[in-house]
This record gives sequence, C-alpha cells and structure tokens, in this order.
Amino acid sequence: MPVEQAGAQVDTPAGGELATEYMGLRLPSPLVASAGPLSQSLDSMKELEESGVGAIVMFSLFEEQVRREEAGSPEAPPASQSDEPAATDAYLRLLEAGAGELSVPLIASLNGFRGGEWTATARRMQDAGASAIEVNIYAVPGDLSMSGAEVEDRHLEILQSVKDVVSVPVAVKLSPYFSSLGQMALRLDEAGADALVLFNRFLQPDIDIRRKEVVAGAGLSGQDEGLLSRTWLAALHGKVRASLAAASGVAGPDDVVKALLAGADVVMTTSALVRHGASYAGELVNGLRHYLIRNQLTLGRLRGMLAVPADTRVDEYERSGYLAVLEQARRRHGL
Ligand SMILES: Cc1cc2nc3c(=O)[nH]c(=O)nc-3n(C[C@H](O)[C@H](O)[C@H](O)COP(=O)(O)O)c2cc1C
Repeated sequence: MPVEQAGAQVDTPAGGELATEYMGLRLPSPLVASAGPLSQSLDSMKELEESGVGAIVMFSLFEEQVRREEAGSPEAPPASQSDEPAATDAYLRLLEAGAGELSVPLIASLNGFRGGEWTATARRMQDAGASAIEVNIYAVPGDLSMSGAEVEDRHLEILQSVKDVVSVPVAVKLSPYFSSLGQMALRLDEAGADALVLFNRFLQPDIDIRRKEVVAGAGLSGQDEGLLSRTWLAALHGKVRASLAAASGVAGPDDVVKALLAGADVVMTTSALVRHGASYAGELVNGLRHYLIRNQLTLGRLRGMLAVPADTRVDEYERSGYLAVLEQARRRHGL
C-alpha cells in the first residue's frame, strides 16, 4: 500500500525552488553533506552552508569511543580518532557551536553495532543542539554464528534504544546486505525510523600482491555506487513513511537528479565534496536548479518520477527489468 511519505509532499512553482523537507525538518535544498571530514571544523561547516547544502550530517562518534570513555577500558578507538583524549566532549562542543551558528539543520551521527549504553549518547547530542540523530549501524557480522534474524533484530534494538532517549527525528544509515532489504526497511519504518539512509559504504581492504599485504581501502566512492542505492530508492518510494536519503556515488549534478527521480527525499554526498571542496555543493545545487527550470518541473514533481509505480509489485518489476537488461546485453554482446 502506498503511504504518504515524509518530505515527498512539498511542491513548489517550477522556478527552480529547492526548499524541501527531510524527516520533518525544513531544508533550503535537498542536497545534504553526509557524515565525513568536512564537518570536522566549524569553518568548513559554514562553507558547506554558504555553498547551498540543505543540512549537514556531522562525522560519526563511534560506539568504541563512547564505551572507552565511559568504562575507562583500553579498547582501541578507530585510528583516525586515537589521539583525541575525550572524543565525546569534543564532538558535543563542536556540535553545540555548529548548532548555534548554522541556520541549516545539523544532524549528529552515532556509529556502532553492539547493544548497550552507548546509544544513550544520542540524548547528549540532542541536548547539544542536534536537529536529528543519524545512527550508522555499521555491521560486518563477523561473528560467524550470528543469524540473519539476529542481525536484523539488532538493528531494531539500536533504533529503539535511540528513539527511547530523544525526541528529535532519528535516521538509520544501513547497509544493502540483507536477504530481504525491503522487509528490513519496512520493519525499521514501523519501528519509527524517521529516515532511511541508503546506503552505508563498507571500506573494504584490498590486497597488494607484490608486498603480500592487506591495504586499507578507504578511497572515495565511484559513480557506479549510486546504482544500488537508486534501485532501492525506487523500490521503497511511496512504500514507507520514513524519508529516504540517497547516500552513495554522487559525482556530479546529474547524479543528484537521478537520485531524486528514483525517489530520494534528499541526496547526500561526501566524496564529491572531498574531491572538489565544500564549494562544489554550490555546483550540485545549481545543476539541480537548472535541470528543474529547463524541464519545467518542480522538485515535488521530479521526486519519484521514475520510482517503481505504486500499483506494481517490486519483485516483478525488478525481474522484468533484469530480463530486459539481459536481452539487451545479449543483443549487444552476443554471437
Ligand atoms: C573520508 C570519509 C570519511 C567518512 N566518515 C564517515 C563517518 O564518520 N560516519 C559515517 O557514517 N560515514 C562516513 N563516511 C561515509 C560517507 O558519509 C558516505 O556514506 C559515503 O562516502 C558514500 O557517499 P559518497 O559516495 O558521496 O562518498 C565517510 C566517507 C569518507 C570518504
């Protein structure tokens, strides 16, 4: 059953107006800076705002950091944060400063996978001025005995424990690796997720065969990474109450338009802004505005124009698309 989607209903005259909503927050544009290095200082957050982003998701505070500080345990934090004595306090101070100075919503990010008290930090984030919380459930289920159902339940538990302590909206950033991502999305939606952020990106290490070493694979994303995200945006648009954020593979303005056509309420980017600088947000936003004007479309009309139609079964739609693609490939490459 199609349901009314948060953020999908804002319609404006076809004059390139970009104001929109994301999980109930009012945004001046649907381009959002996703969690990444450009939120590590107030100056770069201001530059992002001046360039036209509609909201900023701050870099993550990690479960490991919170646990280590609370328990005084020797657990190692992520390498990039290891020299920070009190990461939580520093995070909250920057969040408070940003929330005080910026006019766009500032979304705090909590990142973890285990159960426990670390999620209570969401309350401190709210108190420091976060307009919303994004929970990045970054899970490579390395416990080989953990079942798929347990992994899914863990997502719901984490969401619930954050919802229990805050009143601001809560977004869940998740990976695409579920046996039935659609059902996981519906369960998160029913459990009160205010937005689904599609998708988390695993930083997969590579292997250097000359040195016979594992090498960190922390590169920036490629444009193709938007494809999977768009497939699921198109499938979920109109099927969940939660807002939908596209979160992978934006290289240029066309990718912003594509994500919106697929059904995103907002389009997030990190790699493009790291590659070209915060001011590149302005080019992405202007590219979208010009597209709307050229095509005489409002943002509301553009959004979800190419989503799976409401009266169509997603599985059949995907299967027929799959067959069409194979047929096309056969004609192009076949003997
Ligand atoms: C240098 C860098 C740092 C990142 N830091 C975080 C982080 O702290 N928390 C998080 O949830 N995602 C983080 N990400 C992931 C991004 O938010 C984003 O989901 C991912 O890069 C895909 O989007 P993109 O294709 O626009 O880069 C980081 C990505 C990069 C490249």
